[in-house]
Amino acid sequence: MKSVKEKLNINKIPRHVAIIMDGNGRWAAKHGSERIFGHEHGVESVRSTVEGAGDIGIKYLTLYAFSTENWERPKNEVDALMGLLVQAIENETGELMKNNVRLGTIGDIKKLPPDVAAKLNECIRLLEKNTGLNLILALSYSSKWEITEAIRNIVNDVKNGKIQSKDIDEKLFEGYLSTAQIPDPELLIRTSGEFRISNFLLWQIAYSELYFTEKLWPDFRKEDLFEAVYDFQNRERRFGKISEQLFS
Ligand code: IPE
Ligand code: IPE
Ligand code: MG
Repeated sequence: MKSVKEKLNINKIPRHVAIIMDGNGRWAAKHGSERIFGHEHGVESVRSTVEGAGDIGIKYLTLYAFSTENWERPKNEVDALMGLLVQAIENETGELMKNNVRLGTIGDIKKLPPDVAAKLNECIRLLEKNTGLNLILALSYSSKWEITEAIRNIVNDVKNGKIQSKDIDEKLFEGYLSTAQIPDPELLIRTSGEFRISNFLLWQIAYSELYFTEKLWPDFRKEDLFEAVYDFQNRERRFGKISEQLFS
């Protein structure tokens, strides 16, 4: 029997896949452990997913790792997550380099503790010449924050004469988002059986295909990514048109 990977149409691989990695806390509870145990195990899922994404030729993989709202979690969990981030970057940089992965971030990075920001920047610099998968970590990210920032910057540029208000259109607006250089995701995956977007890429997912799975993030592996991509490949993306127009 063919594996899901073998069944994939290599001419129809989404360029950009975004993932809301959810369910670490519930995974930990299921294993009778503290929440952080789930976050620690989530790193293995990230490793496998990044490897799988590179394997099938996905160009952009955006992972929602920490939201603006997540700052409101208990301090010990936030601290543990920040510590884990530093540790994961230290441990994974070699493997990312080997796999030709470039790293980027979206989000309010200024809010991160200085040691975390420094580690991230160091890793981004080390990997900047790579030409394979672009791995984008959404950290201290929320869509409402991003859109508000974009508006603030547009207003400033109108005030200082860099642009005129008549120039404002969808394309210009997109240039002010933190995803300016990144195509919109064709596929958005959320794990853990929650059916919501939680303030993630609201503008960019206007026409994304959504895929929800019951799997908790620490159980997610590259095969689950292939499954999602296979599902995506069997959908009809109409973009407001009717079926017949797509094949004419
Ligand atoms: C996702 O898992 C990781 C982050 C949001 C940082 P959760 O920590 O939200 O796990 P659940 O949803 O409580 O199970
Ligand atoms: C969304 O997960 C954010 C990340 C995966 C980083 P949450 O667990 O924070 O989302 P809600 O609060 O359940 O919507
Ligand atoms: Mg959650």
